[in-house]
Formats: sequence, structure tokens, C-alpha cells
Amino acid sequence: MRDLFDRIKKDKGPLGKWAKQAEGYYVFPKLEGPISNRMKFNGKEVITWSINDYLGLANNPEVIKTDGEAALEHGMAYPMGARMMSGHTKYHEQLEKECAEFVEKEAAYLVNFGYQGMVSAIDALVSKNDVIVYDMDSHACIIDGVRLHHGKRFTFKHNDIESLELNLKRATKIANETGGGILVISEGVFGMRGEQGKLKEIAALKENYNFRLLVDDAHGFGTLGKNGKGTGVEQGVQDEIDVYFATFAKSMAGFGAFFAADKDIIQYLQYNMRSQMFAKSLPMAMVKGALKRLDMIRTMPELKDNLWKITNALQNGLKENGFNIGNTNTCVTPVFLEGDVPEAMALVHDLRENYHVFCSIVIYPVIPKGMMILRLIPTASHTLKDVEESIEAFKAIRTKLESGIYARIGKAMIEK
Ligand SMILES: Cc1ncc(COP(=O)(O)O)c(C=O)c1O
Repeated sequence: MRDLFDRIKKDKGPLGKWAKQAEGYYVFPKLEGPISNRMKFNGKEVITWSINDYLGLANNPEVIKTDGEAALEHGMAYPMGARMMSGHTKYHEQLEKECAEFVEKEAAYLVNFGYQGMVSAIDALVSKNDVIVYDMDSHACIIDGVRLHHGKRFTFKHNDIESLELNLKRATKIANETGGGILVISEGVFGMRGEQGKLKEIAALKENYNFRLLVDDAHGFGTLGKNGKGTGVEQGVQDEIDVYFATFAKSMAGFGAFFAADKDIIQYLQYNMRSQMFAKSLPMAMVKGALKRLDMIRTMPELKDNLWKITNALQNGLKENGFNIGNTNTCVTPVFLEGDVPEAMALVHDLRENYHVFCSIVIYPVIPKGMMILRLIPTASHTLKDVEESIEAFKAIRTKLESGIYARIGKAMIEK
């Protein structure tokens, strides 16, 4: 028999195999200083395009004051225990009430992390007789939630309504046999490429098919719809979303997340969602901090206006200069370039060291071989100067990429 760790030591996984070349720079980089449009990386100031602080709240003095005061008053422990047992407070209740009202639902339930919450909510919502139909490009938290499902599941091609309908037909046949129901899952905004989920078209299928719709709106909350109420409101179909989810980790610049739905569904989640039944409640500093952030999102439309001013300048500037930014119709701004992994490493190194632009890079196996995506997240705290400088930097690195210089440098980096 082999020691369990033999395989782990030999096979570090698709990303882990690059650890030697990548760690500390391409992965686990240390961005330092206050969270803002410009931070320090490797001792140099860089324009930061990789932080989901869409509305620029992370370093807002009022937000920091609220977080700090709540932490001073309650510490980070209070309340101790799971919500059901001893971790419930009137502030948790208030935050849930306000989240529900904001996204136009009857009730809401807090979860400690979006990722775990989504996994657990999917687990709670379906039984083995039910069928899940979900978008192929779904976030890992949806994929992992579906993994827990003991019944049938189908994927549909990304944002492809014909493919969804085909799979709904298959799902309907099975659900009729098992006596179960159907859960369709989409994202409000697909965070890698920035496309809105086709919620309106999905909702229209309810005319002919019997299903419930769960939407992960991690990137839509705060950025889309009136006052930032999210993608359902943006597309005029919030009522058709049966279970709405948003995280506090992006526009709210905090952590924690919530589900919103009809009262009876939320009550079901309260009593059946294992990630909350068997884990400590969200700490008070986060709850009071989230109340403050939500209030600012509601009452300061200029935050979202600034975000979109920067987003439009960035996306128009990139397009005018011939960059392919795919089909984004949200703030998430992908720049598609061609090149293999070593080339991508050399390009990003140059971009950071010599042009002082810091953005995330997405490579194979997350996207097909031979492609790279430089992923930019505009925020309300960026300036038009940041946009201009970044576009100039992108033009320069594109010329170098086309000249083949990154292929040579990248090869040498890998060999070293
Ligand atoms: C689409 C989507 N869903 C869920 C999550 C997880 O949220 P959290 O960071 O609160 O765990 C993320 C964050 O990366 C996300 O992008």
C-alpha cells in the first residue's frame, strides 16, 4: 500500500506544478498599503486592477471607523456559536431585513462566506429526486454545490438558451419520473469574462417549463441595476429569481454573503443549511460594518456612477485601440490575447515591473490553451489617469507580444 502523501508530493495539480516559477509573484503576490487604485507591489507603486472593491468602499474612512468601533465594542468573537444555538443577534436580523428589502425580496439569510454558503444552499435546496440544470461556466462554488447532489444534473452551454431548453426537456422527463422538481442555476454576472447571465431569457422559459431559478449575483450586486440592486433588477426580472445570492466580498468590500427569497424558502434554509447550522455566526464587526456599507450603497449613487465612468472609459479606450474585450456588458473587463503560459508570464512580469500595471492573468487550464486573459476590475476609486496610463501600457506590451520577445524571455524564465 502507498503512503497517502506519495501522490501529493509527486503531483502538485494543474496550478501547483507552476509553484516554483510562480509563487510570490504570479500567485500569492503581496499587494501592500491601503486598498486603493494604486498599491505597492515588490516595493513599487502599481495601478491596481485586480481588486473587487467595485465601489471603492474598502478604504473609506467611515467604513473603517464603523468596522473599528464595532470590533472595539464586541471583539471579533461575538456572537459565539452557530446562529441557531447562541450566535443570533438583533443586528444579524436587521442586516437580513435590510438586505432583503434592498434586493426586493421578502426575507434574507446571512452566510459567513459566499463560497461555502452557495455549496450548502444548493445541498439544502435539492433532494435526490430533483434535477439541477446549470451553466457550464459556473463559479466553483456552484460546481461544488452541485457535486453534493445525489440526483441528476445537466449543464447547459454558457448563456445558450437553446442548450438550456434542450436540457430542461431532459430534466423535465426525469423529474416527471422521480416526482422531483428542477433547479436552474445561473450567475448574474460571469466574473471571468464579464457577461451578464441571460436572466430575462431564462425567466421567460418559465412559461413552458416548471423550474425554480437560483442566481449567484456576486459581481452584479452593487454594480448593476437601480442603486446597485443587481442583475435581476437591471434586466427587470428580479421577481422571477426564486433564490437570489450576493456576497459581501466584492461591492461591499467585506466578507460574508446572503441569500434572499420568499419567507418560507429562507426559513427552510435557516433550518437546513448545514454551513450555518454547524458553523459559527458572522462576527458582529462584519455585521455592523455591512449595515454601514449597505446604507452607503443605497444613499450614495455617486459611488456606482464613478465606477461606471471609469468602466466606460477603460472599455471604450481598449476597444478604440483594437483590443478584444469579448462580450462584457458589466464592469469586469477581460483583455483577450494570444500566447502560451511562458509568454503570459513574461508579459505580466514586464507589465508589472516596467509599466507599473497590476492585473490578474487567467491562463490554461482555466481557459483553452494558447489564450490568455488579462482581467481588469475597474473601481470607483480609479482615475481617468489610471485608465490612460494603463491603455498606453497595454499598447506597448501588445507590440512586444507580437514581436515574439515574450516567447523568448518566457522560455528562458521557465528553464531557469
Ligand atoms: C460568482 C461568485 N460566487 C461566489 C463567490 C464566493 O464568494 P466569497 O468570496 O464570499 O466566498 C465569488 C467570489 O470569488 C464569485 O465570484
